Amino acid sequence: MNKQLLKDTIQQLFAGNKGLLAMDESNPTCNKRFAAAGIPQTVEMRRSYRDLIVTTSGLNESIGGAILYDETIRQQTKDGIPIIDIVVKNGIIPGIKVDTGAKPMAGYPCEKITEGLDGLRERLAEYKKMGARFAKWRAVITIGDNTPTMANIEANVHVLARYAALCQEADIVPIIEPEVLMSGNHTLQHCYEVTEQVLKILFYRLYQFRIDLEGMILKPNMVIAGTESAVQNSIEEVAEATVHCLLASVPAAVPAIAFLSGGQSPEDAAAHLNAMHTSFKNRLPWIVTFSFARAIQQPALDVWKGQQANVKEAQKLLYQRAKSDAEARLGNYE
Ligand code: 13P
Repeated sequence: MNKQLLKDTIQQLFAGNKGLLAMDESNPTCNKRFAAAGIPQTVEMRRSYRDLIVTTSGLNESIGGAILYDETIRQQTKDGIPIIDIVVKNGIIPGIKVDTGAKPMAGYPCEKITEGLDGLRERLAEYKKMGARFAKWRAVITIGDNTPTMANIEANVHVLARYAALCQEADIVPIIEPEVLMSGNHTLQHCYEVTEQVLKILFYRLYQFRIDLEGMILKPNMVIAGTESAVQNSIEEVAEATVHCLLASVPAAVPAIAFLSGGQSPEDAAAHLNAMHTSFKNRLPWIVTFSFARAIQQPALDVWKGQQANVKEAQKLLYQRAKSDAEARLGNYE
């Protein structure tokens, strides 16, 4: 493991006020988003959409790294240029989603376990040859009547730690994503308790598996009430709960925390990140930034509708959303 290389990659990813663009939707997830927007769910449409994203000029002002999906890292634009080459040429570091999805956990029908460890060492070597310098693995934790169970938390953090060890062995920075889902009618306080528990168990497991904390990125959920909860909290309450929860459970040795948006509106996700910075200013021991998918892409996807004529307008919206999130990282978002 080249610890310095991992550290350097992280500093480059988040230089200035940059964050990450997650554009690593698996084919089923991308198709689901396309279906909702009335866009045909074909390879060609997915290619055009990724082409639209990576050719957005000025994206690198706000985006330091883009997380790609296996199909995308092998894809070319309509002019025959590999997508990954455009990403690199535009000053954005390419990363890759390496998990193969969250599947129902046997014996625990309401919970999921993420798969993808088999053959991962070899896949990482291939992705590295293609130019990927960081990776992502997403685990999902479900809040419900009798969930999350300890069995599910333990299983998910175990695979996250093994994934992270394989990444670091290959000099690839692991993004470790334990996402406590927003779906449900739970309160913010309940989300706080579950998030804290998951993170504490995660960091013990990372210690046990000899993960270099200075060579990883944490991608957590914000601490927020469930989407079906009758009580929704203010921007400041979400920001404060989130930072307090992270201060209680994430070692200061971790260089960067990059949030997922999890189904929040683009405006809310940016406002929450912004409030963390305005409320806590220089009391945050880590870089605190974004690694959004929907909160950056959704307005652009809605405008694009799969039509070539809408590409420019969609790119404008994508650029603006990324810019707003980078401003939020400075506490300057309005
Ligand atoms: P959202 O920002 O849409 O939650 O996606 C982030 C992500 O990469 C999930 O793995």
